Amino acid sequence: MYLLIPAAGSGRRIGSDRNKLLLPVFGKPLIAWTLLAAKLSRSIRWIGVVGQPDDFPDFKDIINGIGMSKMVHLIPGGDTRQASVFCGLQGLPAVAERVLIHDGARCLVTPALFDRCAEELLTCPGLIAAVPVKDTIKIVQPTSQMITGTPDRGNLWAAQTPQGFQVEALTRCHQEGEDKGWQVTDDAMLFEQCGFPVKIVPGEETNLKVTTIMDLAIAEFILRQRAK
Ligand code: C5P
Repeated sequence: MYLLIPAAGSGRRIGSDRNKLLLPVFGKPLIAWTLLAAKLSRSIRWIGVVGQPDDFPDFKDIINGIGMSKMVHLIPGGDTRQASVFCGLQGLPAVAERVLIHDGARCLVTPALFDRCAEELLTCPGLIAAVPVKDTIKIVQPTSQMITGTPDRGNLWAAQTPQGFQVEALTRCHQEGEDKGWQVTDDAMLFEQCGFPVKIVPGEETNLKVTTIMDLAIAEFILRQRAK
C-alpha cells in the first residue's frame, strides 16, 4: 500500500516558528512517531512525505535516524493541506492504484489502524477512519451567534485520517476541486462532492491531531503510557 503524509504545514497555531511536526514529543520529533507507526504496519511499503522544501534537511535527518530512508520519499507541498495532497498524488509512482493519506500531525496513529484501512480499501473506492462524536454539536448563525439547529448526535462522526482512495478517482476529484475553487478540509469531502461513496472505518479515540499545546501534552502522556 502507498501512503502520503501531508506534512507541509507550519507551527503557527501551536505558537512555534517552525513546523510543529519537528517539535519534540516524548524524545522524538512529532513526525518520527507518525512514520514509525507506518513502518510497523504490515501493509505500507512506500511513503511520500509532502513537505515544504525548507524542512527537507530536518525531515531527511529524522528519516535517516529511524532507518526509513529506503521507503520514504520527499515531495514538495503547497500552501494548503488540499494543495499539498494534490502535489502528493502527482508524486506517486504511476503504478499506485490505491493510496492512504494520513496527516503527519496525527502522531498517535497505530500500525493496526493503518492495516485495517489498507485491508478495507481493497473492497471500496474510498474510506475514512472516524469515531462517533461525544459532544452534542450545535449549528450556529455566525453573526448573531444564535443556534439554528442541533443535528442528531447518533449520526455524527468525527473524521480522522488515515483516509484511503483509489488514486485515479481521487486525482480527478482534486483536479475538479482546483478547477472549481472548492475548499475542503479533508479528502473525503472532495470525493463526496464528486459523487463517490465513502465508507467509515472505526478510528481510535487516541488518534488526535496535534493542533494545540494541550494536544502536544496529551500526545506526550499517551506515548509515555505506551512505552511502559
Ligand atoms: O494544520 P493542520 O494540523 O490542520 O494540518 C493537517 C496536516 O496537513 C498536517 O500534517 C500539516 O502538516 C499538513 N499540511 C500540509 N500542507 C499545508 C498545510 C498543512 O501538508 N499547506
